[in-house]
Formats: sequence, structure tokens, C-alpha cells
Amino acid sequence: MSGGVYGGDEVGALVFDVGHYSIRAGFAGEDSLKAEVPSYVGFLDGSDPNAMDTQPPPSQEKKYFIDTTAIHVPQKAVEIISFLKDGQIEDWDLFEKMLDHIYSKHIRSDPKLHPVLMSETSWNERKKREKLTELMFEKYNIPAFFLVKNAVLSAFANGRSTGIVVDSGASQTSAVPVHDGFVLQNAIVRSPLAGDFITMQCRNYLEEHNIEIVPSYMIASKEAVNESASPKWTKKTNLPEVTKSWHNHMVKEVVQDFQASVLQVHDAPYDKEAVENIPTAHYEFPNGYNQDFGVERFQIPEALFDPSNIKGVPGSVIGLAQIVTTSVGMCDVDIKPSLYGSVIVTGGNTLIPGFTDRLNRDLSSKTPPSMRLKIVSSTGSVERRYSAWIGGSILASLGTFQQMWISKQEYDEGGKSQVDRKCP
Ligand SMILES: Nc1ncnc2c1ncn2[C@@H]1O[C@H](COP(=O)(O)OP(=O)(O)OP(=O)(O)O)[C@@H](O)[C@H]1O
Ligand SMILES: [Mg+2]
Repeated sequence: MSGGVYGGDEVGALVFDVGHYSIRAGFAGEDSLKAEVPSYVGFLDGSDPNAMDTQPPPSQEKKYFIDTTAIHVPQKAVEIISFLKDGQIEDWDLFEKMLDHIYSKHIRSDPKLHPVLMSETSWNERKKREKLTELMFEKYNIPAFFLVKNAVLSAFANGRSTGIVVDSGASQTSAVPVHDGFVLQNAIVRSPLAGDFITMQCRNYLEEHNIEIVPSYMIASKEAVNESASPKWTKKTNLPEVTKSWHNHMVKEVVQDFQASVLQVHDAPYDKEAVENIPTAHYEFPNGYNQDFGVERFQIPEALFDPSNIKGVPGSVIGLAQIVTTSVGMCDVDIKPSLYGSVIVTGGNTLIPGFTDRLNRDLSSKTPPSMRLKIVSSTGSVERRYSAWIGGSILASLGTFQQMWISKQEYDEGGKSQVDRKCP
């Protein structure tokens, strides 16, 4: 056997899909994740004088609070931070802490036993890819590594190796054309209008309408109240003095639940008259305040499709259908039909009901009638959100893939630039 071949199917390979909202991790060949860990972390800088009177006092150390339970404990001076910026790893120490946590608490196995397939954004920089390769081999001593663009993995999960991947996650929405398993780098189009933007719009809306968003950590008790009546709740006493970033994050989580429960994308360009008779959605906030929401359900996500009316976003932004048509427009004319024939929709923000139908409608009106248009998307919310992980799970367990790994031996001989050579 040549040194380049790793029999990765003998020991379970691990698949990591890294996003701004969460890191998804699990074993290749399995249908479901072992863990989904939030990409946001609580951080206590022990050398900060503000942290000195916390209990127990931090010994001048940096402390990280990782994963759902630890993040939610209110503590003095703990800030919320992330290791990612624009989809790329920025804070490597923190990323390592996250991996340590995932290996020890969720995977519960020695990293050196498992090859790792990791997803990356299509615009990941070369030096970051190399640094990641180095980290995985040098620190975790893994036997083999592979890095794949998340758009390619999402296409694979949907049974395609060619198509245009429309991914609307937390931090951004992108259209990434994939041809025969390769990303067409020059035709990627991105926009900041995604889940976090919708959260911000919801928050603005609620604030403008004097609906106070009280996160659960503050609430000691609450009473049932009538619709739209003032909430009756009592605040916990002796709460620590939390930071603004931590409190904001807790508010953000309440709003994220609101957005997932209430919003809907209208099937045609939003028109106030047209949606007036549509059923409202009832929502109750953690403090007991509850209300029926009507037109705003449609008005808020409309901005994804028609951003002409939004405030507070710098630069010019384009709507979803135009993101797709602009991207396809930059591709070779020969492959345009196969891209429009597989518009692969993925990402948590696309779970707003009505999203794919509206995209289909808007795209139909922007493409020639002779162009066959097909939206490909999982109907299950789990498959839709985890498509890159699922694609990685499938890929890493294929027999034909086993020769693709960068083996430890190849790394030892060729160094971190092996990733440039082996992973497109
Ligand atoms: N059921 C739902 N309805 C509407 N929005 C949802 C739903 N579930 C999750 N979201 C939103 O989807 C976003 C997370 O999506 P996803 O998990 O695809 O992001 P990510 O891949 O971690 O982030 P990014 O792609 O920006 O790196 C969040 O903004 C969240 O509020
Ligand atoms: Mg994503």
C-alpha cells in the first residue's frame, strides 16, 4: 500500500462542520450528529480588574465557558465571543478550546484514532487552511485529514455534484456554483442578509413596539396574562452584574426563537393588502407577554427577497433571486442550465416557512421560460440545516474517497502545503 493511502473506513472518521451559529460534529457514515455546540463562548479575562470580585476569584487566568449549559450561567464579567470572522477561523486558541471540548465531552475518544474531514467556507484563505492542517496533525495527532468546501458537501448531501448552492445561515447568504464537485470561485456572490440580520430586524421591530424582551435568566416567576396585556413577572434577586455582550446574547436567543416560530415568507412580493387576511401567529415571550402577530410576520423576512426598504445596512445589497442570477451569470454559458437545474437550498435561515417557494417564484420571473429551473432542498429541517455535515458524513465513508485523505505520513513528508495540493 502506498504511504498516501489511509484505510479510513476501518476506524470511524470524524466530520466537523463549522458555522457561525454552531459547530456540528459526528462520525462519518452515521446519519446524525454526535454534537452541535454553539460557536459562541463565554469568556472571562482573569486579568481584568472587573473580574476580581467574582466568586471564586479568577487566578489571573483566561476562562472559557463552552457549550449550551455553561454559556447560560449568568456570571459577572463574562463576555460572549466567537472564534470566527466572516466564516473563517480568527481566534485559534479559542478554536482549539472548542475542539478540546468536543473531543473530550462529546466524541469521548482519542483524536489520534480518527481521521478528520472538516468543512470550510468557499472563501477560506490559503494560510488559514494550512494553519488548520498543521493544528490537526501537530496538536491532535490525527492519522489523516481532509478539508472540503461546505457548498460541495451540501451538494453531495442532496445527491448532486453540480448545482448552485444557496446557503443562508447565521452570518451571511451566499450563492456558490459547484461544477463536478469543484467550486467556481470567481462566481461566488455573498450578502450579509441572513439569520443574524433577521434577528436584528425582529429585535428592532419588537423594540419599536415597546415589547420588552426579557431573557429567562432574569425571570424568577411569571403569571399567565391575557393577550397583549402587560406581563406580570418578577425579577430574580441577587443576579450577578452581567456584561452587555452576555445579556445581548441572551436577548438574541429569545428573538431567534421568536423568528423561528412566527415569521413566514410571503409567496409573492409582499403587499400589505394581500396579506391582511392571512392567519396570525400567536407567540408568548419568556416573561409571559403574548400576542398575535400579523403583517410583520411577512414584512420582516421580505427584506431577504427585496432589500430596497431596509435601513441600517451599509452599501448596496441585493435580494435573494438576484444573488443567484448574478452568480450564475458569471459562469460559463454551457453550465448555466445545469446550475439552474439544481438550485440547492441550505442553511438555518431558509427554514422560514415559504422560503423556497418564494425563491422559486422570484427566480422563475428572472430566468428565460426555456430555462428549466429546479429547487433542490430537503424538506426535513434537520437535513436542511445539517446538509454540509451530512455530505461530509457520506463522502468520508465512501470507499473511493479513502485514497483522497492527506495521511499523517504525507504531512510529515510534505508539510502543511499538502492541503493546497490535495484539497481543492
Ligand atoms: N426553524 C428556523 N426558522 C428560521 N430560522 C432558523 C430556524 N432554525 C435556525 N434558524 C436560524 O438559522 C441561523 C443558523 O443557521 P445555520 O445553522 O445554517 O448557520 P451556520 O452555518 O452556523 O452559520 P454561517 O453559515 O453564518 O456560518 C440562525 O440565524 C438561526 O436563527
Ligand atoms: Mg453555514
